[in-house]
Amino acid sequence: MTDSKPKSFGRKSISASLKPRELMTNAPNLFGVWTASVVTLFPEAFPGVLGLSLTGKALQDGRWQLHTTNLRDFGDGKHRNVDDTPAGGGAGMVLRPDVMGKALEHAAGSMHRAAPILMMSPRGVPFTQRMAQSLAEGPGMTMICGRFEGLDQRVIDHYGITEVSLGDFVMTGGELAAQAMLDATVRLLPGVLGNADSIEEESHSNGLLEHPQYTRPAEWKGHAIPEVLLSGHHERIAQWRLEQARDLTRTRRPDMWAKVADKD
Ligand SMILES: C[S@@+](CC[C@H](N)C(=O)[O-])C[C@H]1O[C@@H](n2cnc3c(N)ncnc32)[C@H](O)[C@@H]1O
Repeated sequence: MTDSKPKSFGRKSISASLKPRELMTNAPNLFGVWTASVVTLFPEAFPGVLGLSLTGKALQDGRWQLHTTNLRDFGDGKHRNVDDTPAGGGAGMVLRPDVMGKALEHAAGSMHRAAPILMMSPRGVPFTQRMAQSLAEGPGMTMICGRFEGLDQRVIDHYGITEVSLGDFVMTGGELAAQAMLDATVRLLPGVLGNADSIEEESHSNGLLEHPQYTRPAEWKGHAIPEVLLSGHHERIAQWRLEQARDLTRTRRPDMWAKVADKD
């Protein structure tokens, strides 16, 4: 942290020397601050990349807060078991409903009632920029990081949990998915990005992929920056960027282009 007098945003006190992980473990629950509550077998994986750069600075500044619940703490018996074999047989293990239920009820203690509960899952609805925008406008979210073969369906049904996917691939656990979704959401919270204008033009915000970007030097290994970008003519630059964005979207993402073409 560079600022010796951090903004408090309601936090009782923050020492400037706290590291991102200490901010999670030592911080009291802040009323009215956008909150992520993550249920995981690996709380030590958080804040992970979220503790760096703009999201890390925003965490330090109390623009959002992050709580973790260690699923193992709610495990059964001496070995704190959290999983069992699948009903009906088959490979792998399944996270138990009684254990997850207790962990979720604990996690709910620090959450606004309107905050949704999301389960990281490759069979969930695809996570999108629109979803990130909608989540950023709410009070926060509870995120369940699955492991093994996933979670007993009864928990998902009982709590009205939404399964959300990072993409059509399978990872070993939900922690990376949760961090990716949190990064996409937290950067949309007020004051997290230095330049709010950059959100408006970037890929997926307006239904188009972003135009190509260039910076100095003007020539590199024989490749020049497109002349129009050096013209200083704002209207021509905006027009060129829009054309590039449309071309890229049409060739790379016919699915997105079909929606743009519908609106034209
Ligand atoms: C090995 S996966 C379980 C896959 C599950 N048996 C299936 O076929 O749908 C373990 C956990 O990783 C997480 N995970 C894996 N891929 C994911 C993805 N594409 N998006 C979000 N979470 C994912 C989920 O939390 C999941 O419960």
